[in-house]
Amino acid sequence: MSKPIYVLNGPNLNLLGVREPEIYGKTTLADVQALCEARAKSLGKTVVFRQSNHEGQLVDWIQEARTMACAIVINPAAYGHTSIALLDALKAAEVPVIECHLSNPAARESFRHHTYVSLVATGVVTGLGAKSYELAVEAAAALAA
Ligand code: DQA
Repeated sequence: MSKPIYVLNGPNLNLLGVREPEIYGKTTLADVQALCEARAKSLGKTVVFRQSNHEGQLVDWIQEARTMACAIVINPAAYGHTSIALLDALKAAEVPVIECHLSNPAARESFRHHTYVSLVATGVVTGLGAKSYELAVEAAAALAA
């Protein structure tokens, strides 16, 4: 049995569907999880799908992924713009990393234009809503193969 793709979600993504739907859409995080699981299954992979509002918890999961995952898909949410701790953890993970965002941060406020995660990500998928996750899972599966 091959290792799963870890799909990790940062702060406030638990509120998907009700949080700023004009930006993030009406899809809930449970819907996103179902889409990721279905896409992974169609590619002969599995996902471990998690969300936390806490930076340290995300660091712990990235460290876990180092031995337990074949690749990481991460929507770091606002921590992407601020967290050197996430960057360092991802660097140490030594598995392929795909960053994804529902919105297109490059088209939004200037403080969203830089993400630390992009420094270590092999690829970045943005701006496509829940589809960003499906494409990110597909890319992670291809890199992990
Ligand atoms: C986000 C974009 C971030 O700038 C923001 O802080 C989020 C969500 C996205 O998926 O579009 O929380 O990561």
